Amino acid sequence: AMTNRGAYPHFMLKEIHEQPEVVAHTLLGRVAGESVDLSKELGWTKEDAAKWRKIHFIACGTSHYATVVAAHIMETLGNFEIRTEVASEYRYRNIPIDEETLAVFVSQSGETADTLHAARLAKERGAKCLVITNVRGSTIHREVGEALITPAGPEIGVAATKTFTAQMTVLTLLGLYLAKLRGDLKPDTERRLTAALMDIPGKLATMLSKEKEIEALARDFADARGFFFIGRGLAYPPALEGALKLKEISYLHAEAYPAGEMKHGPIALLDKELPVVALVPKNALWEKTISNIEESMARKSPIIAIATEGDGEIGHYTKHVIFTPETEPELFPFIAIIPLQLFAYYIARQRGCDIDMPRNLAKSVTVE
Ligand code: G6P
Repeated sequence: AMTNRGAYPHFMLKEIHEQPEVVAHTLLGRVAGESVDLSKELGWTKEDAAKWRKIHFIACGTSHYATVVAAHIMETLGNFEIRTEVASEYRYRNIPIDEETLAVFVSQSGETADTLHAARLAKERGAKCLVITNVRGSTIHREVGEALITPAGPEIGVAATKTFTAQMTVLTLLGLYLAKLRGDLKPDTERRLTAALMDIPGKLATMLSKEKEIEALARDFADARGFFFIGRGLAYPPALEGALKLKEISYLHAEAYPAGEMKHGPIALLDKELPVVALVPKNALWEKTISNIEESMARKSPIIAIATEGDGEIGHYTKHVIFTPETEPELFPFIAIIPLQLFAYYIARQRGCDIDMPRNLAKSVTVE
């Protein structure tokens, strides 16, 4: 059964391992040939899509970080005006919301109070609302009506893992579909990204096969005072989620920064007891991130790099490297998150933490 952890010592580890299957399942029936089709779930016309000039993403926690990934990807797909906000802020600010707004609420549980209240507000203001949830018939689903379901199965570990990859998958499909309805999507972009999405499950399996390597790395670093996670562009959102996983289950201080922003303050914290996890895929921003790695090395911070297979130079900077298979640049967050989840898991295990039920946290927060 889905709620049995079988041979795994923790639900979190089991759920990390389910991700290839979850992504494959999430794509099923939504990608046909090399084309994205959400028309079975969303009764949207070209006119609707053209009218929604503003796209708002509203969520909390890990679901919020999935929307940060989505915003970065969607910016590459079309001429969207996108905002990503945490639900508890969205509600109390004076953000213009109107009939030209598509408000997308993302909630694994569908029960998070802040997200629910934000959805009520957006609805009142006349926005078109859509929910992305893992629980069919949840409160948010019932109130919002229109939904895209993430078919990840029940998630028991308090720290979200498989629902995050399922959310990123659905959000990427949503971005492609909206861009297509609006006439912004280039056919070769659609072909390139749908093909790359279909390859994601296999690449996640490749990353999972590096588990022993990541466990060894966690053993080396379990006594660190805390961690910085840095990345640029599409490598920044997975850094946010990697840092969140670590703080949730290991109780170590972990902070994510856009790599170029480190010099504006956070660099003051660096020393040999504060390692930097650098997400440095081989892309146009590689050299810029390398220069931030060098700045961190100059402050004696140990460097752990998440780099692209075949990067022959990364070894000059650090011996702690986890290589990721190549993918289309937009989809790097999918692949990068696996070693970060496993790293958080094994650090927490080294430290003897209660991984599936971390202190002070609840699986879903139904109070404001
Ligand atoms: C809680 C959980 C997090 C989760 C967040 C949002 O804080 O501990 O793991 O990301 O709520 O939950 P939701 O169900 O709305 O995605």
